[in-house]
Amino acid sequence: MHKLRSREWFDSPEYYSFSRKAWLRSQGFTHEVFDNKPVIGICNSWSELTNCNAHLRTVAEAVKRGVWAAGGFPLEFPTISLAEMLMKPSSMMFRNLMAMDVEESIRAHPLDAVVLLCGCDKTTPAQLMGAASADVPAIVVPGGPMLSGLHRGRELGAGTDGRKLFDQFRSGRLTEEELCEIEGCLARSAGHCTVMGTASTMTSMAEALGMTLNGSASIPAPDSRRLMSAELSGRRAVELALEDLRPSRIMTREAFENAITIDMAIGGSTNAVVHLIAIAGRLGITLTPDDFDRVSRRTPCVVNLKPSGEYLMEDFFAAGGLPVVIRDMLPLLHGECLTVTGRTIAQNVEAAECFNREVIRETARALSAEGGTVVLRGNLCPSTAVIKHTAASPHLLQHRGRAYVFENKDQMMAQIDSPDLPVDENSILVMKNCGPKGGPGFPEWGQIPMPKKLLERGVRDIVRISDARMSGTSFGTVVLHVTPESAAGGPLAIVRTGDEIVLDTAGQRLDIQLPPEEIAQRLAAFTPPEPKYRRGYGKLFLDHVLQADQGCDFDFLRK
Ligand code: FES
Repeated sequence: MHKLRSREWFDSPEYYSFSRKAWLRSQGFTHEVFDNKPVIGICNSWSELTNCNAHLRTVAEAVKRGVWAAGGFPLEFPTISLAEMLMKPSSMMFRNLMAMDVEESIRAHPLDAVVLLCGCDKTTPAQLMGAASADVPAIVVPGGPMLSGLHRGRELGAGTDGRKLFDQFRSGRLTEEELCEIEGCLARSAGHCTVMGTASTMTSMAEALGMTLNGSASIPAPDSRRLMSAELSGRRAVELALEDLRPSRIMTREAFENAITIDMAIGGSTNAVVHLIAIAGRLGITLTPDDFDRVSRRTPCVVNLKPSGEYLMEDFFAAGGLPVVIRDMLPLLHGECLTVTGRTIAQNVEAAECFNREVIRETARALSAEGGTVVLRGNLCPSTAVIKHTAASPHLLQHRGRAYVFENKDQMMAQIDSPDLPVDENSILVMKNCGPKGGPGFPEWGQIPMPKKLLERGVRDIVRISDARMSGTSFGTVVLHVTPESAAGGPLAIVRTGDEIVLDTAGQRLDIQLPPEEIAQRLAAFTPPEPKYRRGYGKLFLDHVLQADQGCDFDFLRK
């Protein structure tokens, strides 16, 4: 057996080896815990500020049971947590900070393996990025989705339905009292959002990459099987430590190709493009938006979950969950990829069974023949943009219209409800300065609210374009991640109200109808906005964040 990493801390002849043990024993441990037991870190993103992860202390206790039972020594530790709903300017601005916290916490401590407890959107990619860089054996235990929202007998998807109902309130079709009642019904338990938004997508990506036990991503947060899976993960972590099975052996290029395929099959969030590119970058694997595009062309979208479809994560779990999707997609996957179970991804799903073919469709009845994300190129987005066409209005996917431009989010918020806003159903809303540097922090502002005057006329969707991201729970004909972003001098910066723009989703193009000389002239006159931060983490972020097509990691953190 290889020498355990923790022995460097506990078995050396120096004073500090003795004192480390003495100080740890202040917590009441016997000397036996140092008896060559693998030390298993439990990296917990619990926080009362991150409601989605508020149950992770209970999950950690279940992991500890498993670690003790398998002969390990569990030690739980906190890191920064990222609250999607509360953090300003955007939780995305702090994903890299959390990844650094996770990486250095693992590296600095006497850990032989680590169990990563995550859930809310950014906590999963941050932990995977940190664990990939530390490359100590690791296993992910997602917190699982919350219970489905329930209002007067009707199921509601957190995020997706919340946005639709809020639009009804804005157009006067819901009272304040009704909205307040709904506010108490949308998020009925701990756990992450109930639709196939970014959190459900990223925990599914962790499973598709091979970093969780089989089926772990889909189990609802309050379900007893969540804790059983956590206990089993604790047991398995001890074996991972003894086998020295590291993330770099699991998260290979082929594993990322598997994850992209599953992302398309589940109709995953557009944010997965950014996060998977960033995780891969930590391992020296170059992924680009074109990899997603290539896989998307050959992969059907089969999971009928909101925002692309009808159902919620609880229904997905009851239908058999992600193992069914993986089994159905095996012809498109690298089935030989190793996973944390010690078996291949194909072996893991041998016994998977589907219990509801409305929720997880057969390939022949797919929701769409191709995956959910289309990568666009054109003179408005030379380094790509993305659109989630499965959550868009089909009649707008091929569209030509005049731009109405907001220079930033504040201007948009000040004008969007104005009865005088000069837009109609053919207009294209363009919003600038919402990218990684411009937001700053690449906020999820891309689903620009529908103008109130159009909502009142019954118009539910128009084309919207920005360099922002969009919540995975959102929907609409929304072009995102326009790269290079406007604050970095990308062509989005030179769009003016009245310019004509053509969105050609089938042809994967996004173009502004201007002669090249006019574009060059306007670009030459561009002046970058004043930086929003001159010190601290904000400055580090602005100085080093990469663009969306490179995953928005810091340049100095990639392998
Ligand atoms: Fe945490 Fe949606 S707010 S997953």
